[in-house]
Amino acid sequence: MKIMTTTSELRKELSKLERPVGFVPTMGYLHEGHLSLVDKAREDCVAVVVSIFANPSQFAPDEDLENYPRDIDRDVELLENAGVDLVWIPTVEVMYPEGYQTWIDVDQLSKLLEGTFRPTHFRGVATVVSKLFNAVGPDKAYFGQKDAQQAAVIQRMVRDLNFPIEIIICPIVREPDGVAMSSRNTYLDQEERLAARCLSRGLFLARDAYLNGERRAEIIKKIVSDEVEFEELAQLQYVSCADPNTLEELENQIQDCLVSMAVFVGRTRLIDNIILGK
Ligand code: PAJ
Repeated sequence: MKIMTTTSELRKELSKLERPVGFVPTMGYLHEGHLSLVDKAREDCVAVVVSIFANPSQFAPDEDLENYPRDIDRDVELLENAGVDLVWIPTVEVMYPEGYQTWIDVDQLSKLLEGTFRPTHFRGVATVVSKLFNAVGPDKAYFGQKDAQQAAVIQRMVRDLNFPIEIIICPIVREPDGVAMSSRNTYLDQEERLAARCLSRGLFLARDAYLNGERRAEIIKKIVSDEVEFEELAQLQYVSCADPNTLEELENQIQDCLVSMAVFVGRTRLIDNIILGK
């Protein structure tokens, strides 16, 4: 497995790879969720490239970039064992050289849901992902349903800007107790980790209600919010029932629906979601 930091090294090594090339962008501190994307890329493609870059432009000044968990040695070992061909670990200077000023804005999708609370987040994500795509030039790229809005934004961007890349969205990997795997779970203490179960518990109850015929968006959302309100350490930021493609909020009777939520557990902000009806 080759590890690179500069774009010229990357270009040289990429030219030696056989196609199709699968690409998994990450911010590191890898877990089974990330590795499920790598496994899928391994299945589909001849070569697999992974990037590790905690992208400053998707963190607001008051967010957790400085404390974002890092363990490059462990990440490299996990990727080596997963059969990855190339790991690209660019520096901030490589990605955003002095004078950098070009941004990608996926206008409408970026404003909804997460965008209400993190107005500059998806501009940072879309920009860095398009830079990574241009540098790596993969045939396929793999993203997690865990970040449902991110997946929608990237799919829209790829269509809008004619990236010749197939985007593959992989299911959410959960801990045995239902909590969605996330690098941010490491911020939780023991009590908070238990409290974090309320997100998936609420979503699974909503799914049960849906399977039993419930179609009222308000009731689905109430089932989710009740589960969070019951938990002392948890504070609901939002719960939404939205169209899975446009992310527009659904009123009244839902058919296919993305139920998504953000919750503060202590000081840690967690997101989770489930798709109903597909
Ligand atoms: P990061 O949070 O490291 O996640 C990298 C990829 O892993 C994303 O596509 C994310 O959706 C996926 N992922 C995370 N947890 C998962 C889980 N429990 N199950 C399945 N997939 C999961 O998302 C980012 O980084 C960044 O925004 C990035 C796309 C790299 C751009 O900077």
